[in-house]
Amino acid sequence: MAPVKPLSASVAQQLTSAISATLPETTDVDPLLRRSDRADYQANGILALAKKNKANPRDLATDVVANLTTGDVIKDVEVSGPGFLNITISDRAITETLAARAADGDRLGVPLKDQPGISVIDYAQPNVAKEMHVGHLRSAVIGDALRGMLDFTGEQTIGRHHIGDWGTQFGMLIQYLIENPDELSAETDTDGEQAMSNLNRVYKASRAVFDADEAFKERARKRVVALQSGDKETLDLWQRFVDESKVYFYSVFEKLDMEIRDDEIVGESAYNDGMPETARLLEEMGVAVRSEGALVVFFDEIRGKDDKPVPLIVQKADGGFGYAASDLTAIRNRVQDLHATSLIYVVDVRQSLHFKMVFEAARRAGWLTDEVTAHNMGYGTVLGADGKPFKTREGETVRLEDLLDEAVERATAVVREKAEKVGLSEEEIVENGRYVGIGAVKYADLSTSANRDYKFDLDQMVSLNGDTSVYLQYAYARIKSILRKAEGADPVAHPELELAPAERTLGLHLDAFGTTVFEAASEYAPHKLAAYLYQLASLFTSFYDQCPVIKPRPAQEIAENRLFLCDLTARTLHQGMALLGIRTPERL
Ligand code: ARG
Repeated sequence: MAPVKPLSASVAQQLTSAISATLPETTDVDPLLRRSDRADYQANGILALAKKNKANPRDLATDVVANLTTGDVIKDVEVSGPGFLNITISDRAITETLAARAADGDRLGVPLKDQPGISVIDYAQPNVAKEMHVGHLRSAVIGDALRGMLDFTGEQTIGRHHIGDWGTQFGMLIQYLIENPDELSAETDTDGEQAMSNLNRVYKASRAVFDADEAFKERARKRVVALQSGDKETLDLWQRFVDESKVYFYSVFEKLDMEIRDDEIVGESAYNDGMPETARLLEEMGVAVRSEGALVVFFDEIRGKDDKPVPLIVQKADGGFGYAASDLTAIRNRVQDLHATSLIYVVDVRQSLHFKMVFEAARRAGWLTDEVTAHNMGYGTVLGADGKPFKTREGETVRLEDLLDEAVERATAVVREKAEKVGLSEEEIVENGRYVGIGAVKYADLSTSANRDYKFDLDQMVSLNGDTSVYLQYAYARIKSILRKAEGADPVAHPELELAPAERTLGLHLDAFGTTVFEAASEYAPHKLAAYLYQLASLFTSFYDQCPVIKPRPAQEIAENRLFLCDLTARTLHQGMALLGIRTPERL
């Protein structure tokens, strides 16, 4: 029986099924399709199968060809080299498959996962009373894109913004505020920048007193105890720091054009109540042991200098809990209460040892089971255009807001240059400038594989040429303008038409959208989607150069079919960019 072809199957998937159908049912073989210069696809999988069955690969390939039903999908197939298959797809199959996708609204024919899991994504986790830095930017941008892609595959995602809202530094801050009550305005500020500058001032001032005044230091220490024991006045003041910081966080996230939900801001402090139990359980199970008064977990394979084992500290000798205890308690919550099947931490690669130890401890305790994966998506450092760690000329850390403002400013200048020709209003220029500028920052981050360091180079980011979001946004707007200009012709697929080479190449790339999103999502690799989109825009450019759509106007059906390709390209660009958190203005 011919394999039933589900609507959502791509051409490549139909081809895979057709090849598999020629093999005995028991063989589970991936034909390993690759796009190829000689034909549309080359299948390399026969070689591995022949090796396994101790058969001659060329003979096996010849058998496959003899049994392969050509017709609907396959136009031509031949054996080449030691046992590859070169396959040419029929034009009809390309257009028909794309037409089915085009008829499927925003999903573009991309199926939903059969068995979606629940992924808890820990991302965008700045620290209270502190300025956000470029590292926090990466976490937010990458986490948001991961989430967009996973959601699109049907996975259920839950965000967790594990903000740094606990620790001994609050003793100092709160004590200072008690002694200088007017320093933080009673009303919570609504202006993010104002909020941060207030917090900065308090932070600096309290630090200065803390360092200079022994008596204050002692009072600050006592304040930590009061905070930990839940003293009301102390907690109220702590809350003010948190609230004021959130005003600031939200202003940055809004600038980033990113939606962050309040119920998903669940910081370190949220796990306070569970930490004593975490410690007790670990000790009872023998996962953690007492060492010099502290409760720690040791790992054979993790050793520091002089070969001494590096422990994970669950509870300090003074009874206090820290970062690790909060993360371990969070795991219990995420697995047992949220029923997560995957835990993803988008956190600086410099914390990878911490996560390695936390995950291992949680596995030993049985909180992480074989059914649950845990992954630290550790990202690299943000460097300046000079390749050195990102600093201002004066050697200070760059303020995130200044950075984003500058990106928007530069982008607005780029947009303005072309605005007159496109007929954009001042309002549209401002709006587009924002989308282009923020998109540039996000795309530069997402298009490099996350574990690599990347250069924050605004000149390059807003450049119209090369692998930038601006290039993609212009490609999108250009297609939209083509579609508007095509009076008297609508995008209509015509499967009966023969396709030009550039149409085939574009069509087969469009065909790969679904598999690309699935691959990028399951590998936590947004850069694969970014690379796909960039190639899509480039292929569109060659198509448009070689296949006139409007001028000179081709025959009606050809024009309609080409407009159909334009339309599907635009929608794919739009959807793909949206998954990455980047807007595509209609006119640019
Ligand atoms: N707030 C931390 C920082 O700024 C990142 C938190 C990461 N998440 C976690 N579950 N530990 O470095």
